[in-house]
Amino acid sequence: MIPGALSLAGGPALAGTADSERDRLLAKAEASVAAATSRATEDPTRPIFHFLPPAYWMNDPNGPIFFGGYYHMFYQFNPYGDDWGNMHWGHARSKDLAHWERLPIALWPSKEKGEEHCFSGSAAIDSDGRLRLFYTSIGARAPEQWMAVSTDADALGFEKFAANPVLKLSDHQGAEIDEWRDPFIFRENNVWYLVAGGHQKGRKGCIELYSSADLTTWKYLGIPIEGKEANWECPNLFRLGDRWVLVYSPHGPVRFMSGKLDLAAVKFTPEREGTVDPGHYYAPNGLETKDGRRIMWGWVNGFKPGRGWNGCLTLPRVLSLGGAGELIQLPAPELASLRGERIAIAPRPLAEGKTALAELKGNAIELELSINLETAASAGIELEGGARIAFDGRSLEVAGVKVDTPPSKAISLHVFIDRSVLEVYAASGAVCVTRVIAAPKPDSPVRAFAAGGSARISSGAAWPIAPIFEPGR
Ligand code: FRU
Repeated sequence: MIPGALSLAGGPALAGTADSERDRLLAKAEASVAAATSRATEDPTRPIFHFLPPAYWMNDPNGPIFFGGYYHMFYQFNPYGDDWGNMHWGHARSKDLAHWERLPIALWPSKEKGEEHCFSGSAAIDSDGRLRLFYTSIGARAPEQWMAVSTDADALGFEKFAANPVLKLSDHQGAEIDEWRDPFIFRENNVWYLVAGGHQKGRKGCIELYSSADLTTWKYLGIPIEGKEANWECPNLFRLGDRWVLVYSPHGPVRFMSGKLDLAAVKFTPEREGTVDPGHYYAPNGLETKDGRRIMWGWVNGFKPGRGWNGCLTLPRVLSLGGAGELIQLPAPELASLRGERIAIAPRPLAEGKTALAELKGNAIELELSINLETAASAGIELEGGARIAFDGRSLEVAGVKVDTPPSKAISLHVFIDRSVLEVYAASGAVCVTRVIAAPKPDSPVRAFAAGGSARISSGAAWPIAPIFEPGR
């Protein structure tokens, strides 16, 4: 039993009888991960400054939250292999959103209760100052929303609520919800709200809304919005300025809607919508920082199997809305603490063809580059391994994925190359693309190119970026 588990008087009743089974299952999972860590961390294609587990498979970020002086990140984690399965919640924490410290696995499938997977969800801090995790419990029965509560002041250990589920399919006043999962919690006007994903039988993807005074007893309120896609996963619903933003994952490119939310009328009215990131990006989840910023991470997927690890998160992105309700995403400024010595990229003409940026070598680097097309039809950069970022005055192509950009001769790119992950920001954060690429070698050159004429690098700077976890972890 985790110390402190006995001192929960006044809190929700926890499933104390299962403690020894919990400890046995967690110890087995941790041992499996420990045995796989050196192979995973030695793989030269594994990112070093994108968040990932010590080994094996991860998918969605779960329950990011600021608690007890740390940013906590949980994630869908298979401690037994580098493919999807055995969903646990991995756990790590950070003081600064840049450097991360590994923590014990937080949630495990309670086999003795018929639970097979702990699916995605979110976290909230209760009135007793405990961290509560909400997630979808998957077993032979229909999906249910379950709760777990921290058993110590640092939220290093969790115990499941004795009276789970906190929500079940039959709570929907007759509405039949399929693929019901991924609870997301928020607080508004001193009331707790929860939205989950899914769709009504025979209808389209939607979110369902619930409310609670105490985080334990939940009431179904209705469906604030239904979409066009067949099903919605992993909803996030939060305020940005005077608007509300709904982010959802419809088994395809992740979408956002910005607009108005009327909680009393259970109605979300979108005013603007778009794609969050058209690349290797899915199931994002976010938190509010202590100074009130909204930060979101997505799951980077699409890696080659068989490397002892698979999956990571994007960099933390600060969200805001543009004047027309468009979503703006910029890398969190805290990431600058990972930079090594600045490398100046001298302005230079780019003749038709390739030009090596001789001062810039590496495979874990941040690069800011402003390019002017001048007479060229397109210009950009090319990494060893073939990944290209190409701009043509109307669009940007990032390793094969094309996005529209505001028409202009010039573009400023903010590029993060992290071995097999390429993350590109452009158009002041209106464009963000994440791609899994063939990892360049450690001393690889970066080349600029121009096609159909000559172009120019008008300014640039780069930095080597340090690992975000302790070596070998
Ligand atoms: C999204 C998702 C979620 C689910 C989780 C399971 O990637 O399918 O809907 O909770 O992954 O790992």
